[in-house]
Amino acid sequence: MTTSTPTSELHEDWFDERWVAHWIDRQRAREPQRNRQFGLLRAMLPFGVDTEFTYLNVGSGPGTFDELVLQRYPRARSILVDVSPLMLERARERLRRFADRTSYIQADFSTRDWTSALDDTHVHAVVSCIAIHNLREPALIRALYADLYGLLVDGGLFLNLDYVRMPAAELQAMARWAGADPEGGFMPGGGGSGMPGTADEQVGWVREAGFIAADCFYKEFRLALFGGCKGALRVPEAR
Ligand SMILES: C[S@@+](CC[C@H](N)C(=O)[O-])C[C@H]1O[C@@H](n2cnc3c(N)ncnc32)[C@H](O)[C@@H]1O
Repeated sequence: MTTSTPTSELHEDWFDERWVAHWIDRQRAREPQRNRQFGLLRAMLPFGVDTEFTYLNVGSGPGTFDELVLQRYPRARSILVDVSPLMLERARERLRRFADRTSYIQADFSTRDWTSALDDTHVHAVVSCIAIHNLREPALIRALYADLYGLLVDGGLFLNLDYVRMPAAELQAMARWAGADPEGGFMPGGGGSGMPGTADEQVGWVREAGFIAADCFYKEFRLALFGGCKGALRVPEAR
């Protein structure tokens, strides 16, 4: 963020350099939580370290999660999709050393033709972190889940770490209360009230798109990690 722009004057706009810089800057303070959350997501990728696979990160932002995947999996290929050219530029910088295994698509996943750039690509997993809630409308999210199902190969996994609405208003107070105990380990509480779906609803939409073994794999108040598999889920026997 430029020093001349007070934080109070910024609003969420992924095409505004000042907002993007501010958002990225703010994540530094959240690094321990984000590392933990990204760790959960990465742990669920059902691939041995030497496996060659391609995954899509929908709403990739600056490529923070992708760095973790590319580091662990030397034969993984990442396709980063984001509506924001500024975010994709940040990701390109961050992932420069993996340039031969990364590609970037600027696309708006609220449109129904956003997958056209991916024709014939074999996608073994789709991930998303704190991005799809931006669609706001359940109908758009359900359409996106159907698109993602269509992109995946048989056995492909979809994992979405995102904000959800808590199913009861009083849980807002509980989230704040529990989040204020530093030894509890919860992220600071509250929020989530304007989110398009509860975790249960989201899992229902994943199932409706055709995924099986759909579930919420992790949840704390307004944050959930959920998803499902296109056809039978195959998991390696041991790490
Ligand atoms: C909160 S950021 C999260 C970025 C990244 N996943 C992370 O966790 O570091 C949300 C991202 O979703 C992207 N995004 C929002 N709406 C989108 C849309 N309709 N199509 C594609 N990307 C979108 C934004 O540009 C932004 O990079």
